Amino acid sequence: MKLVIGIVRPEKTNDVLTALYRADVRGLTMSRVQGHGGEVERVETYRGTTVQMGMADKTRFEIAVSDEFVEPTISALRQGALTGEVGDGKIFVVPLEQVVRIRSGESDVAAVTPTKEG
Ligand SMILES: Nc1ncnc2c1ncn2[C@@H]1O[C@H](COP(=O)(O)OP(=O)(O)OP(=O)(O)O)[C@@H](O)[C@H]1O
Ligand SMILES: [Mg+2]
Repeated sequence: MKLVIGIVRPEKTNDVLTALYRADVRGLTMSRVQGHGGEVERVETYRGTTVQMGMADKTRFEIAVSDEFVEPTISALRQGALTGEVGDGKIFVVPLEQVVRIRSGESDVAAVTPTKEG
């Protein structure tokens, strides 16, 4: 199992959700975050040149998936979030040790995908 974390432009949030739904990826967490993607803004001050890190609003998706869903999830995130311009975002894939469904006590692959009943 892996935790796929995608950080994308907020205006691409709905496109990413649609792409994930089409790829049969169910079960995700979404949050609004602020991030910095390497672009530097140089500002002169009386002490000399300083570098100011500009922060941009981003949407962060966290999606726990079984191994066969890792590539479809990455593809859906890219398909939904791509504009081709600098700042399109980043995807991190992190090993996931354990998942537990609170209602049933099921764990791991049995727990990582939502049940059809809800
Ligand atoms: N190394 C990193 N660690 C954690 N978060 C990061 C990292 N790089 C980027 N991010 C997050 O991803 C967001 C988007 O980054 P961004 O798209 O600028 O990545 P990039 O690698 O610089 O790609 P690009 O060249 O397209 O700008 C950032 O605002 C930040 O939230
Ligand atoms: Mg960048």
